[in-house]
Amino acid sequence: RADVTKAYRGTILHFTGDPAGGGGNIHLLEDGALVVNEQGLINQVSPWVELPDELRAEAVQDYCDDLILPGFVDTHIHSGQIDAIASPGGDLRDWLESYVYPAERRFADEEYARRAAGDFLDTLLAAGTTTACVHTTTYKASTDAFFAAAYERDLRMVAGKVLMDAGGRADGGPVPDDYLDTDVRQAEDDCRELIDAWHGKGRGLYAITPRFGPTSTVEALRMAGRLFQEYADSGEPIWAQAHLAETRDEVDTVLERFIALKPRSYLDVYDKCGLVGPRSVWAHCLWPDNVYRSGLGGGRDWRLLKERQAGVAFCPTSNLFLGSGLFPLARTRRAGVRVGLGTDVGGGTSFSMLETLNEAYKVMALQGDYLSALRGFYLATRGGAEALHLEDRIGGFQPGNEADFVVLDFAATPLLERRTDAAEGLVERLFALATLGDERATKATYVLGRRAWTSDESHPDHGH
Ligand code: GUN
Ligand code: ZN
Repeated sequence: RADVTKAYRGTILHFTGDPAGGGGNIHLLEDGALVVNEQGLINQVSPWVELPDELRAEAVQDYCDDLILPGFVDTHIHSGQIDAIASPGGDLRDWLESYVYPAERRFADEEYARRAAGDFLDTLLAAGTTTACVHTTTYKASTDAFFAAAYERDLRMVAGKVLMDAGGRADGGPVPDDYLDTDVRQAEDDCRELIDAWHGKGRGLYAITPRFGPTSTVEALRMAGRLFQEYADSGEPIWAQAHLAETRDEVDTVLERFIALKPRSYLDVYDKCGLVGPRSVWAHCLWPDNVYRSGLGGGRDWRLLKERQAGVAFCPTSNLFLGSGLFPLARTRRAGVRVGLGTDVGGGTSFSMLETLNEAYKVMALQGDYLSALRGFYLATRGGAEALHLEDRIGGFQPGNEADFVVLDFAATPLLERRTDAAEGLVERLFALATLGDERATKATYVLGRRAWTSDESHPDHGH
């Protein structure tokens, strides 16, 4: 942690809400100071010229030509898929079977799992991402390894062991049988031990993580919902996460598999098991009730997600790569649902939230909508924090917030530098950065006020 109050000078951008809800939510300072205290918390943001003399005299880091932004929040990603990214071919089901389950199975090797967890987190930091909502693998030990690596780096991470107890070869599914949980009892014991060990330790937060409907029994979903509710009533609520309605084939499979519940929709299956509430995070939701099988209820899914204060992860690079569909961001905005951006690596093709913004823009364009640079940067930071119910701690620069931030270089590549020089104003530069930028734009990443990654060296600061 920083041992003195420190001021960072540069262009500062952060949000206190969705800019679509009003310009008052945008805080943009061209020559600003971000002041961080010794505890690694935000002290204040102010115009540089208004910074009191005593603070100006403190240690100053000059990022005058750069953008200082809250660390990116990735609301959906798989640590077990760092070696499955960029695997071609097939729809979701084929791709999971051919690449993903075999890749995650390698995490049975604890040494491999330990190294992969560290590499995964360092790759996030290199992209400027300081918080993520993470599916690990079904192995408890790989989840311990993930939380241990996050703890070493002092990162605010939400994560959980993947729950899977169906869809194996024995019942004609694509999952290798030895990659499934033995039974619901073992899965519950694993979860409880992981919660005891890691939930609230350092900045770690536990998410109960049933993978999705096709790999769950109703007993497993009910167990997950019971745990989620049990902790919701305690002083230390846990999170819940799963995939939801990513493909039409998946929706069909789920409605058939859980027919005994008489579900109104796929979301209703999770809801009937007690999993939909504040701090639940749903990846994709491309085919909710009102879009697919339109007889099922006309938009009730979006209303339910809004009422329950659940979060949804919009994962454009994954949705395009797997050909799953186009996320209806404008619709979710009208419904008032909390939405963040996710990379969904390895279905997603980049760890970079800038590349994710670039693809998000195109997903909107294909639907006749427009995503502004400011709304994009909101989604990548504060929007993600809101989707995870962490907006009081991360995703912005309110006094007392945790000082996780990223410094982005407007001149990271020759082309970006040219485009930046040609830009008429700051908002145009921000759009160029979101569209042309990637990990190369990360100049430095700070965690609780401590520099955790810098482009000055080819390796992370961690461990030095
Ligand atoms: N649905 C169930 N598992 C997965 C996964 O690992 N990636 C994606 N994109 N969708 C899923
Ligand atoms: Zn996913």
